[in-house]
Amino acid sequence: MAQLTIAIPKGRLEAETLDLFAAAGLCLPAHRDPRQLACLDESGETRFIFVKPSDVPVYVEHGIADCGVVGRDVLFESEADLLQPLSLEIGACRIAVAAPAELPENGHSMLRVATKYPRIASRYFGERGQPVEIIQLSGSVELAPVLGLADCIVDLVETGRTLRENGLKVTEVIAASAAQLVVNRASYQLKATVIAKLISALKGVVRLRAVARASRP
Ligand code: PRP
Repeated sequence: MAQLTIAIPKGRLEAETLDLFAAAGLCLPAHRDPRQLACLDESGETRFIFVKPSDVPVYVEHGIADCGVVGRDVLFESEADLLQPLSLEIGACRIAVAAPAELPENGHSMLRVATKYPRIASRYFGERGQPVEIIQLSGSVELAPVLGLADCIVDLVETGRTLRENGLKVTEVIAASAAQLVVNRASYQLKATVIAKLISALKGVVRLRAVARASRP
């Protein structure tokens, strides 16, 4: 039986995360069917489960997974009580407010903000004393201002390409985000040795990569 279960976020961070774990010695079998949502690593000691990024904190908080990898954007939005022992230095991006270059008069009394991150957006505008109407979407948020559903968006910006392709510009940066290793509180005590070993192996890879980056001309 696997000693450890690790939740991997499907999508944007998936490939970089698996690459990082492989460098730390946890390799997936060469011919994994991508539709298989749970599988053991080559040693059989670690089980990977593949879930939606926003579900990683849920699986880890409930102890179904001992550890997980998740972007800080998702953690800011989640209220899960998790340990965050290590920043993995992958998936760097920003959470930002973006709007069309020309903001048309909306005819509404409040700014309408479309987002997958209602808590981050409410907190951000709330702290500025700006009343907003939050319109919660699940994806393709950039379409909302283009089609008149919202005046602006709060979303993740990585390369900025999706914004450009849809005629939007960053107007304010809310926070920087990157992938984070999260650990279930009980697992951290009960599986202390194996989790410490995992953290140390990942830390080693993160450090080596930082050195390699710094020494690049
Ligand atoms: C994320 C984010 C942006 C896009 C930003 O979406 O919500 O839409 O990536 O990336 P870029 O700056 O490199 O263009 P994701 O791919 O997770 O899909 P979604 O819109 O369905 O949530």
